[in-house]
Amino acid sequence: MNAGAVLILNLKTIIAGVICFEKFREGNVDFCSCDPAIEDRSWSTFSFLEALMLCSMRCSQTASCVAYNFINATNQCQLFNQTLNKFSVLPGCQYYYRKVVNDSDLSAIGENLTVEADDYLQEFYINGINVMSPSRFPHAKEWNTADMYNLKGDLFVIAVRAWNTIAFGGVTISTADNYIVTNSTWKCRKDLTDGWYKINYNDSFWTDALEGLNTYYPTSSPLARYKWIFGPQACEHCDIYCRRSFIKKDRLCLEKHFWEIVLA
Ligand SMILES: *[C@@H]1O[C@H](CO)[C@@H](O)[C@H](O)[C@H]1NC(C)=O
Ligand SMILES: *[C@@H]1O[C@H](CO)[C@@H](O)[C@H](O)[C@H]1NC(C)=O
Ligand SMILES: *[C@@H]1O[C@H](CO)[C@@H](O)[C@H](O)[C@H]1NC(C)=O
Ligand SMILES: *[C@@H]1O[C@H](CO)[C@@H](O)[C@H](O)[C@H]1NC(C)=O
Ligand SMILES: *[C@@H]1O[C@H](CO)[C@@H](O)[C@H](O)[C@H]1NC(C)=O
Ligand SMILES: *[C@@H]1O[C@H](CO)[C@@H](O)[C@H](O)[C@H]1NC(C)=O
Repeated sequence: MNAGAVLILNLKTIIAGVICFEKFREGNVDFCSCDPAIEDRSWSTFSFLEALMLCSMRCSQTASCVAYNFINATNQCQLFNQTLNKFSVLPGCQYYYRKVVNDSDLSAIGENLTVEADDYLQEFYINGINVMSPSRFPHAKEWNTADMYNLKGDLFVIAVRAWNTIAFGGVTISTADNYIVTNSTWKCRKDLTDGWYKINYNDSFWTDALEGLNTYYPTSSPLARYKWIFGPQACEHCDIYCRRSFIKKDRLCLEKHFWEIVLA
């Protein structure tokens, strides 16, 4: 492989025209979409790099295309009209998605999340990235005042770490339209595990969150009537880790099916 190829292989982002595509990866893990493709083709006569560039051009020129898989062994290009629903981690398959470049982009519908923890909010992750900062969460250390987080772009995973000193302890996260709301479909845990906030983290051994009302919360606030979550049981002087994946639970590609596509 020549130096140019090595350089481009290390690029995280591919720019085709004015549209940016970003390789979807977490640490050194590459994701591969298992969703149905709207177009699927191979460019076997081209080099790897030419085929990769053609694939991103093809996606940028297809109005409904928002993402693509590129499979290096066969120079295969699969276009998608939806963002990632099911994924797998397969060597040689890389998923690129249209990057949100500015606020007027279609995928950048800002959803406002109301985020509150009793007693403290300690860490707050969107898609594996800690977005916690004093300016974004000025009330993180107040058990009775919520913060608002403006969520833009695609949502894959929310993960939160809170702390409870005494009495009720838990978190509540919601959008006004209840598209996102903490309930028993979330998972909670009291102990730290490695990578607990990542997208590519298997939380199947975590227990379903317990739901409850926070009867200590100021009754003048609507949050007093919201679902708070915690678990696996109430605790004091403890960390509370909760997370929810918005990617479909069944996230493994059927590899057989996948290879049939590759060989077709
Ligand atoms: C994607 O394409 C499929 C097949 O053409 C279609 O049924 C589906 O509605 C499309 N989805 C979106 C989000 O455009
Ligand atoms: C395809 O990618 C895999 C995993 O990244 C790598 O091991 C393999 O050498 C690549 N193959 C080609 C033909 O580039
Ligand atoms: C943002 O995106 C819109 C629509 O895609 C485009 O018209 C506009 O020029 C972009 N703004 C900037 C600052 O790039
Ligand atoms: C989210 O909050 C911002 C700032 O308060 C506001 O401008 C925006 O309209 C809100 N978005 C929605 C979808 O409610
Ligand atoms: C949990 O909340 C989600 C919205 O994020 C909703 O779709 C689901 O039906 C709720 N499930 C339960 C058991 O309340
Ligand atoms: C997650 O872990 C469970 C066992 O804890 C296992 O059965 C399951 O296959 C794993 N899922 C993935 C996608 O690795």
